[in-house]
Amino acid sequence: MDDKTAYDDLPDGVVVADDAGVVTVVNPAAARVLGTTADAAVGLPLRDVLPLTDDQGRDWWTCTDPWGGLATRTRQPERKLSLAGRDLLVTASYVRDEQRRLVRLVVVLRDDRARERTDRSRADLVSTVAHELRSPLTSVKGFTATLLAKWDRFNDDQKKLMLETVNADADRVTRLLTELLDVSRIDAGRLEMRKQVVDVGRSVQKAVDGRIAAGEPPERFVVHVEDGRPETWADPDKMDQVVANLVENALRHGAGTVTICVRPADDGTEVTVGDEGPGIPEEVASRVFTRFWRGNRRGGTGLGLYIVKGLVEAHGGTVEVGRSPSGGAQFRFLLPAGTAPYDE
Ligand SMILES: Nc1ncnc2c1ncn2[C@@H]1O[C@H](COP(=O)(O)OP(=O)(O)OP(=O)(O)O)[C@@H](O)[C@H]1O
Ligand SMILES: [Mg+2]
Repeated sequence: MDDKTAYDDLPDGVVVADDAGVVTVVNPAAARVLGTTADAAVGLPLRDVLPLTDDQGRDWWTCTDPWGGLATRTRQPERKLSLAGRDLLVTASYVRDEQRRLVRLVVVLRDDRARERTDRSRADLVSTVAHELRSPLTSVKGFTATLLAKWDRFNDDQKKLMLETVNADADRVTRLLTELLDVSRIDAGRLEMRKQVVDVGRSVQKAVDGRIAAGEPPERFVVHVEDGRPETWADPDKMDQVVANLVENALRHGAGTVTICVRPADDGTEVTVGDEGPGIPEEVASRVFTRFWRGNRRGGTGLGLYIVKGLVEAHGGTVEVGRSPSGGAQFRFLLPAGTAPYDE
């Protein structure tokens, strides 16, 4: 096997040195990391080509000494080392002959930045979730403890108020957990789609009827559903969820009349949900769809629009925010036409 061509295709950096510690191979990925070329590096001592240091600034080659060190060592498990101030994940394998003499050292380098980014966003997620769960649970604990300790000191109205708060906070926790499950399915690409021919107009009507039944005055809603829309395959429950989320936001964060239009557009169906509230400033328009972003204290957990985007995109659609004719926020999503059920 030609070492060179095999290593050339690897996405990770590979540097090989011989029994004397002289570099014999630098693949293109390693050359990129090192900011050099294979031709310039081959033939030089490995220590000079790869001046790695550990987290305390010590020279890694002196610490491990592959040529003089422990003759039983055959590999170096992944370690974070630094190369001229840049973090790299380094693994090495020590190829030895029968006398356990080192004949070749293969070093694999991986840029740490991409992994650090996912690790950080995961850590952020955990701390945000913990924080979000803590405030309703603190109130549940506080009110139940107070009621248990001082039951006789409160009148019925006071007790009722406390229990109502506990009840609402328990609902908040349940809702947060449901949203988090959706988020994790979206992030893992594990959304289960039960596609069928759907009428998005029905999802809209259902969402509006639901809000009216819950006490919203009917005159707050204007619904336009235009004919001539192409056949659309989608998961009806997920469509309901998308529309319900946008309508809820229009009521909670917007103001005035909520106008919802369903019409044919560019080989698909376009749905707009507009309101007459303060709208969303252009500078934050791209951020509203990110996890946990919320504009004001009245906000919920800030997951609604992230889920909306995930669900719409899982259908091959797009979603964006702009201004409604009356100056409020207007969300618009497009669902492509005729996506077959097996085309998931
Ligand atoms: N129609 C709207 N008008 C004005 N601001 C809006 C509107 N819709 C959303 N926003 C802003 O975008 C933020 C994010 O919305 P999103 O639906 O993701 O979260 P949320 O409504 O705060 O919480 P959740 O939906 O998870 O309960 C909101 O907090 C709000 O500041
Ligand atoms: Mg919301």
